Amino acid sequence: VPLSGVIGMPIGHSKSPRLHGHWLKHYGINGHYVPMSVMPEHLAEVLRVLPFAGFVGLNVTIPHKEAVLTLADVVTDRAALIGAANTLIFRPDGKIHADNTDGYGFIANLRQYAPDWQADAGPAAVIGAGGAARAVVASLLDSGVHELRITNRTRLRAEQIKGEFGARVVVYDWAQAGNMLDGAATAVNATSLGMTGKQPFRIPLDALSPDAVATDLVYTPLMTPFLEGAQQRGCRIVDGLGMLLHQAAPGFERWFGQRPEVDEAARAAVL
Ligand code: ATR
Repeated sequence: VPLSGVIGMPIGHSKSPRLHGHWLKHYGINGHYVPMSVMPEHLAEVLRVLPFAGFVGLNVTIPHKEAVLTLADVVTDRAALIGAANTLIFRPDGKIHADNTDGYGFIANLRQYAPDWQADAGPAAVIGAGGAARAVVASLLDSGVHELRITNRTRLRAEQIKGEFGARVVVYDWAQAGNMLDGAATAVNATSLGMTGKQPFRIPLDALSPDAVATDLVYTPLMTPFLEGAQQRGCRIVDGLGMLLHQAAPGFERWFGQRPEVDEAARAAVL
């Protein structure tokens, strides 16, 4: 019986066990997906022994996404570029393969809910430069965005992303976040602003074009203040839950041998 799961700390709020549990049941696969709370000082030991207990891989979440890169034997280029992994495969030869599917999930969600979205329709504007933003930036550039604008409260993190991702990245001052949206074809909130229990989202959206596609990485609530404001301006909006669903699909396929469908039933399983 193949086993997988998610390691993090804390892990109680993860939606992944419900999602993978739904897919396992739906496809009649005799496997299990378990949440595991692991302290950083135990990470290396846990990764070493799990393959001997029947585990074929894992999802990785906060705070282990960066540390697993140093413990893996093979790291994909995109995981190395992003500086974090969220999906591990324990290979039969004993080697640990680390990948990052967050950027794939971000783009797949956009394509599902805004089917006419085109990477080269105009500049992309990314609000935030944290861990999640790095995967978004990598995937947007990989998709063919010509100009990627980015702003962050802590400007240095945005400058670091420009340093690593190159000339197509343009850094805006945090005070200019509203102006950054002017002319953008794609607008992304990759901060925690607007999340239930976090600081409110206060960036003015007056410059956002109605032709833009707006998407938020926050999915609690599903309709965030950023998406609400963008929708009022006439933009196409894509909520953040689909990214969570799509980033999970490649791992499920590699562990359990079945490409899972990201459909309404999968969405309902995590809501
Ligand atoms: P994640 O992996 O979710 O991206 P993170 O790396 O902690 O988590 O990044 C959180 C993002 O939200 C960052 O862009 C952060 O800005 P800083 O780099 O300046 O910390 C942003 N953020 C969080 N709280 C914020 C606030 N009150 N005002 C502005 N930005 C905020």
